[in-house]
Amino acid sequence: MADIDLSRLTKVFPGGVQALNGIDLTVHDGEFFALLGPSGCGKSTLLRTIAGLETASGGAVRIGGREVTALPPGQRDIAMVFQDYALFPHMTVTENIAYPLKIKKVSRAERTARAGRTADALGLGHLGERRPGQLSGGQQQRAALARAMACHPGVFLLDEPLSNLDARMRLEARTFLKKLQRELAVTTVFVTHDQAEALAMADRIAVMDQGGLRQIGTPAEVYRRPTSTFVASFIGSTPMNLLEAEVRSDWIRVAGTDLPLPAGTGAAVHDGETLRYGIRPEYLRWTDQDEPAALRGTVAVVENLGSAQLVTLDCATSTVRVVVPEEQEIALGGPARLVPRGDRALLYRDGALVSPVEPAGDRTPA
Ligand SMILES: Nc1ncnc2c1ncn2[C@@H]1O[C@H](COP(=O)(O)OP(=O)(O)OP(=O)(O)O)[C@@H](O)[C@H]1O
Ligand SMILES: [Mg+2]
Repeated sequence: MADIDLSRLTKVFPGGVQALNGIDLTVHDGEFFALLGPSGCGKSTLLRTIAGLETASGGAVRIGGREVTALPPGQRDIAMVFQDYALFPHMTVTENIAYPLKIKKVSRAERTARAGRTADALGLGHLGERRPGQLSGGQQQRAALARAMACHPGVFLLDEPLSNLDARMRLEARTFLKKLQRELAVTTVFVTHDQAEALAMADRIAVMDQGGLRQIGTPAEVYRRPTSTFVASFIGSTPMNLLEAEVRSDWIRVAGTDLPLPAGTGAAVHDGETLRYGIRPEYLRWTDQDEPAALRGTVAVVENLGSAQLVTLDCATSTVRVVVPEEQEIALGGPARLVPRGDRALLYRDGALVSPVEPAGDRTPA
């Protein structure tokens, strides 16, 4: 059992920068957990504090039920992989992989055998005699992973390990890493600022901002039910449409059109109140019919996404983006109507979700 339990964790750097402000978080045993957020929000600091490379200013870190807050990294049963891999340039791949075992005073025969087995498992068997400078980016990444894995840690901590790779390599490495994590079932905390990477790989995601956690959930939860406009605009390849809206009894006036109130929000809103209406570009349907509850506008820009088109529509009072399947012909300047998927629309007051009620069928099985 190597779950990670953080309670009231704070970090204040000398000079007064508050990088973590009271983090409460449990990462379950065997889970692939992503820390996601913009640059400077405290992701690396949180990871390094779990690892023991930074000392917590307050609060506690427990790994596998054991309090490790005051222990050095070597006594925490963790292995960490950094963005730059930090391989030793003067050592061969095999020596690099075996190095942490040497520190742990594992016998030479045993560490050579373990380094060899791990290198083979990661497809590096034939590269054992090369030095890092003679490897591709992807191979270096695998060597760094192999070095971390060979120790059989209870917890893997990865800080943006894919960010040095080109786009194609990154996609391959992503699949590879996810598969590897499944096979090893090692509790893994993965730092990234790339929302697509977090959605694709993680069992659960914590979205961070300014040293705090803004939302914790499965990829489906943070994508479909972002609890703040911050998370709503951070998650998704095309940001969520966040439109000014006015409540009018059972309806809500958005971009010049009356739409039904989103599911579950009826009792929580007041007539005449101004809110934000959130709807993802993927949850709007393009229609040629004259449907009553449709946003109307003219097509301003069409961008090709490959399998779909991203259309920007000028409506009466706002600009709305919609993802339209490629089969549909879109004429610039032409009139258009968009029907929102009612169960996917969200309302925000002061940046926070008005009603946390989950629409039917939206729950992720426990
Ligand atoms: N050693 C340090 N001394 C003082 N301030 C620091 C130190 N390390 C980090 N910080 C500050 O703490 C905050 C969080 O930094 P951190 O490196 O954790 O961010 P991050 O989320 O990993 O960002 P990035 O995505 O850019 O890597 C930042 O404001 C940063 O400037
Ligand atoms: Mg960082």
